[in-house]
Amino acid sequence: MSVTIGTPLQASAFKVLLLGSGELGKEVVISLQRLGVEVHAADRYDHAPAMQVAHYSYTLNMADAEELKQLIQQVKPNLIIPEIEAIATQVLVEIEEQNIATVIPSAKAVNLTMNREGIRRLAAEELGLPTSAYRFADSLESFRAACDDIGYPNFIKPVMSSSGKGQSRVKSFDEVDAAWEYAQTGGRVNQGKVIVESQIDFDFEITLLTVRAKNAETGEIETQYCDPIGHRQDAGDYVESWQPQAMTPAALEESKRIAHKVTAALGGCGIFGVELFVKGDKVWFSEVSPRPHDTGLVTLASQFQSEFELHARAILGLPVNTIRHSVAASAVIYAGVDDTNLSFSGLNLALSNPDTDLRLFGKPEGFKRRRMGVATARAETTDQARELALETASQVSVQQN
Ligand SMILES: Nc1ncnc2c1ncn2[C@@H]1O[C@H](COP(=O)(O)OP(=O)(O)OP(=O)(O)O)[C@@H](O)[C@H]1O
Ligand SMILES: [Mg+2]
Repeated sequence: MSVTIGTPLQASAFKVLLLGSGELGKEVVISLQRLGVEVHAADRYDHAPAMQVAHYSYTLNMADAEELKQLIQQVKPNLIIPEIEAIATQVLVEIEEQNIATVIPSAKAVNLTMNREGIRRLAAEELGLPTSAYRFADSLESFRAACDDIGYPNFIKPVMSSSGKGQSRVKSFDEVDAAWEYAQTGGRVNQGKVIVESQIDFDFEITLLTVRAKNAETGEIETQYCDPIGHRQDAGDYVESWQPQAMTPAALEESKRIAHKVTAALGGCGIFGVELFVKGDKVWFSEVSPRPHDTGLVTLASQFQSEFELHARAILGLPVNTIRHSVAASAVIYAGVDDTNLSFSGLNLALSNPDTDLRLFGKPEGFKRRRMGVATARAETTDQARELALETASQVSVQQN
């Protein structure tokens, strides 16, 4: 029942293979490193953020089943952590079936959440959770019919996409054809399928970080929740988040009920980012990430154990503590330009307030809307924390060399 961790770079090493090496993975790696885990990080490009703090790194196309299988055979990890969705997930299902390694949180979770259809059908049809009304469409004709059915405004999203790619809000029939065209260019693979969702008229949206971790005494998996995180999205991408988001006791209870149901169905140990829409006491399930969530970067400033430490502990079978010690907020720092070899200045000013902090991710290449860092801030109230985090982020300037 109890986990044993060996010595990195020696025969006894406890090995983790990270598939996808972005900024969230980087923080998970730092947490694993502190517990003496040997970390192998993979991504499709060299010098990705998590690679820079791992023991070993690999550049490959993780959507290619053969390349992925070969890497797993070479590394022989104890755990595989998929950090992104664009992976040959069928390989992970086989790896789990053959008991070669444990997939975090489970191959089922990774497989279902990489496709909006899988997770939506599970949540709405199997578990009976409240969601927006939805239809799937795989041609312009069926998309037009779906829009007519669902009404306007609605949201169209490629089923295989994330971070708002290919997504749009369709306000009237006039916009239908353009939205279809846009969705076809934004998906991860050229699988033309989209989901059409009715617009939920919410008061606010939250991420409920939900941890499935083993009880230290019984070894049973228990579900724990962080305080709700409020966030603001711009074109499907998070720009600021804060914790806690105030909500009614009934809405919080309903949020936990939904999160419990969906994470229990996905299984395994680890942290999940459950995205919910809230209006008064009413809550709708939107989607779930079976891994740390970008809006959860705020927990670096607000909790005794950030979402990254919680994830590291939970996947190792260790106890977790989800308690928040401060009110805090986070604000994203964008590159603002398309270039490599960027420099960041204004850090002295940004960090002059003792309640602020920064993470610069070390990405080798910036794009206008690429997230290069994040500012966090603690304050008395969430409004003050948001203001301070936004100010701190704005004090960091990006220069081309
Ligand atoms: N049905 C809906 N009703 C109202 N707002 C919606 C709806 N669907 C999406 N949105 C808005 O668009 C945002 C992005 O949608 P969603 O989370 O489905 O996309 P995503 O590409 O997975 O984004 P991310 O990867 O950043 O989580 C939501 O956080 C919400 O603000
Ligand atoms: Mg989302």
